[in-house]
Amino acid sequence: MRRKDFLWGSATAAYQCEGAWNLDGKGEGEWDYFNHTSPLNINNVSGDVACDFYHHYKEDIDMLAAGGQNTFRFSISWARIMPEGRGRVNQQGIDFYNSVIDYCLEKGVVPNVTLFHYDLPLTLAEEGGWARREIVDDFTEYAKVCFKAFGDRVKIWVPINELRYYSYCSNMVGNYPPNHSLDFDRFFKTVYHEVLACAKAAIAYRKMGCDGQIGIVHDNSNVDLAPETKEKERIRIIANLFYNDLVLDTALKGTLPGNLIPFLQENGIDWSYIRFEDAVTFEKGKSDFLGLNVYNRMYLTDYSEGETEVFHNNRGAGSKKKEGIRIKNWFETTVDPTTKRNLWGREIYPQCMYDALMEIKNKYGDIPIYITENGHGMYEKADENGNVEDDERIDMMQGYIDKMLEAMDDGVDVRGYYAWSTMDLYSWINGFEKRYGFVRVDFDDDNKRYPKKSYYWFKKLIEDYQKGAE
Ligand code: NOJ
Repeated sequence: MRRKDFLWGSATAAYQCEGAWNLDGKGEGEWDYFNHTSPLNINNVSGDVACDFYHHYKEDIDMLAAGGQNTFRFSISWARIMPEGRGRVNQQGIDFYNSVIDYCLEKGVVPNVTLFHYDLPLTLAEEGGWARREIVDDFTEYAKVCFKAFGDRVKIWVPINELRYYSYCSNMVGNYPPNHSLDFDRFFKTVYHEVLACAKAAIAYRKMGCDGQIGIVHDNSNVDLAPETKEKERIRIIANLFYNDLVLDTALKGTLPGNLIPFLQENGIDWSYIRFEDAVTFEKGKSDFLGLNVYNRMYLTDYSEGETEVFHNNRGAGSKKKEGIRIKNWFETTVDPTTKRNLWGREIYPQCMYDALMEIKNKYGDIPIYITENGHGMYEKADENGNVEDDERIDMMQGYIDKMLEAMDDGVDVRGYYAWSTMDLYSWINGFEKRYGFVRVDFDDDNKRYPKKSYYWFKKLIEDYQKGAE
């Protein structure tokens, strides 16, 4: 592909940036309810206002276009389009996204649109959310409404963001609503209904004669084993089933992983919801591309001892916990003493960008790939002029981008890169203190925007890339 056609941009998600939680006919979402009522909202903040993208979208799109970015990834709030999750369509919701999309196009920015980024309408959540098979049809109806309303202008679609990670947090860690902990039945069931929903949405998209591409976004979880690991092959198989295969095999090969049902059976995990006729849906509903959110790998070794336990750090510098899990008789995460971690206990490992891309090429062939997220969460302080010198973010992201370019040189078909995030926003259970943006938002002063050092670094990186030899 020509250098000027490569997409360079940044990403956001509806609940994390829009605010306007109850404006212009939007229905209540599961996260609205959770943040307003649950003691598990440990930072006691919400996305009620977030960074108020709802009223600042022009400024944000202006800013990213002026920074040389030619694409913007954002998500649509299901409850803003269908306040009850199904049935009635809220025209004011349609109008808002029409304005965002039209403004992107006016500025020469390609919209890359996700339909579901963790934010379920409350009515559907109360019925059982993703654990109910019926949600697949509700989601397909919602997807069709969006394809019809926006499909003439949006040509890159993602039905669901991070299917596995969303299910992991909601059903294993328990830090996202509906806050189930270590519930393997619900974990697999949720991912299954999500992959089915993605496949059905892709089928509907093609049936409607839309002419863009539809894919999925997976949270990269390539498996690396610590050298001392004894049961390497066994762990690799189990860990890939747990982290990757259900999403990637259905989306990229159009089949369920062959060893999934025997594995669930052997481990006493519910698989009653898997229907053999779904095979046709998976076959017809394959993705046109893979979106990969690249932050870290899964660094694993043999299970040692003790009960299954999740280690998760939503307290940042206030906790020494390292992100991971121990699953009895399967495997456990371990620490590579040579790598760094962010203050939330997540490993920083640029090499995983290269390794993951090569692994996908080897397993699934030459599928087009977008890096739909990559970024670095930090505590930040502005100087007296409002500037943030985020050199740590720049160093870290440069490392990952170099590895992406190396994989492209080695034949991986990467078509775009999206930094997380366009501007500072609400970082789910981590609240507002964990910042990712290229643009600082002063949450205490009318959500004013100030480009950070990384914003200018990214602008120059894009310019240099575009000037390079074809
Ligand atoms: C993945 C998610 O898609 C996004 O919502 C989240 O805030 C970032 N990663 C950063 O953790």
